[in-house]
Amino acid sequence: MSTTAGGSTQQESEEQGRRGAFSSRRVFILAAIGSAVGLGNIWRFPYVAYENGGGAFVVPYLVALLTAGIPFLLLDYAIGHRHRGSAPLSFARLRRGTEGLGWWQVGICFLIAIYYAAVIAWALRYTFFSLDEAWGDDPEGFFFGEFLQAGDIRVTADVVPGVLVPLLIVWLAVLAIMALGVQRGIGATSLIFIPVLVLAFTALVVRALFLPGAGEGLDALFTPDWSALGSASVWAAAFGQIFFSLSIGFGIMITYASYVGRREDMIGSGLVVGFSNSGFELLAGIGVFAALGFMAQAGGVGVSEVASDGIGLAFVAFPAIISEAPAGALIGVLFFGSLVIAGITSLVSVIEVVISAVRDKLDTGRLTATLGVVVPAAVLSLVLFSTTSGIYVLDVVDHFVNQYGILVVALISMLVVAWVLRALTGLGDHLNVHGRPRIGAGWRILTSLVAPAGLAVVLFFALRDDLRAPYEDYPDWLLLVFGWLLVVALPLVGFLLARLPWRAGTHLDGAPPGSDPAAPLHATEGGSR
Ligand code: ALA
Repeated sequence: MSTTAGGSTQQESEEQGRRGAFSSRRVFILAAIGSAVGLGNIWRFPYVAYENGGGAFVVPYLVALLTAGIPFLLLDYAIGHRHRGSAPLSFARLRRGTEGLGWWQVGICFLIAIYYAAVIAWALRYTFFSLDEAWGDDPEGFFFGEFLQAGDIRVTADVVPGVLVPLLIVWLAVLAIMALGVQRGIGATSLIFIPVLVLAFTALVVRALFLPGAGEGLDALFTPDWSALGSASVWAAAFGQIFFSLSIGFGIMITYASYVGRREDMIGSGLVVGFSNSGFELLAGIGVFAALGFMAQAGGVGVSEVASDGIGLAFVAFPAIISEAPAGALIGVLFFGSLVIAGITSLVSVIEVVISAVRDKLDTGRLTATLGVVVPAAVLSLVLFSTTSGIYVLDVVDHFVNQYGILVVALISMLVVAWVLRALTGLGDHLNVHGRPRIGAGWRILTSLVAPAGLAVVLFFALRDDLRAPYEDYPDWLLLVFGWLLVVALPLVGFLLARLPWRAGTHLDGAPPGSDPAAPLHATEGGSR
């Protein structure tokens, strides 16, 4: 009998061979960073920080990271690492009746994947547009008009070829990566792309810092508005940002942790992933606002006039910067190329949640499950988002799935694990066997009280705002169909899927044999790392 990397027994090796596994802790950490660092870091964080107190936002952001983000990341790791399964299988092993929570997370990932791919496709197209500044002197008109051909708000079948082709390319790339499997597909992609992303983005930030006016942009981002700390919605924004950005609460980290050898340090890994993600977020904030400072100075206006919301910031403000700045094409390729890379490494983690769940439940081969998940996802993605109404549907699905999908399922699963199953002590003990620094009562208090309280506040404010006024003034039917109905359907479908039988011989209720991290290695097992 021999050990694999991570020191697993043959029994576990066979199971890992069937499900797939990361070859080492380093590959797992890179894949987890790849998942966490995504579109949310590059265009969402700078804007959220700027809108919510600038430099003062660092305070609620760090509080949210330390009190909810990292504790919840460790909870996800513990569930997946101990129960060695996809989200539904891990929950079924935690307690049979909670399997539906896992399927709810799978449904959320399926929806996120189909629109996330569309934003990556736009970025891919814009990487090439940067070379000849295809947007001319009206980036906004170009983005919504010539590029997306966004018309009236109604669902149409009018296909936009300029979006369809890059979207098809993105899905083909995802299909290839996923078919290669956990190590040769996801692991190898992360090993190559994460260093490339760090280099490309650092080069972009350095370039941006040397633009005239960069200091003004940084002043705008970092000048603290301490009064913002008294606003509950600022704290809510910080908690919302941390959950989306760290990829926690919707099955990703449970799935990835199930591919890690049983004797690995998951606590240290969680700290590395959490702080790397936030470090990248800070870097993105500096780069984006240095560039906006340049833009403001060039136009003789304040930074507030050039800083705009999410999609607008990436696809409207940045093209304008690229047109104005010396060596603008380089800035464009670095910025949009980084968005593509960061997006792809997150997208594969999102889609892996679905593939892994299908494989565990039906015992299908990697290729069959990949085709069975990626093809329908790609078709839906192409049908919904390569048409002239794509951007409106995307905006609504994104808003509702984030607010009432991710955050609600995260809150409920946290409460169930902590208060109904009372499983926190066992999960913490599991991480402590090989994890350092050890976690104890502090972690349990944060996970069972502080993080749920933070999430509940976020949800309260989100719901209040959505009930007070229709999101972005969209028509009721659009919000109903692609918003409210969708988020209500997700848990219902999840709990229906949980009623389907597992493949014969699946171990349920309790951690599977061979998963005990404290069990000694077999006498003949070496340390092959
Ligand atoms: N964590 C990923 C992001 O930030 C989903 O985009």
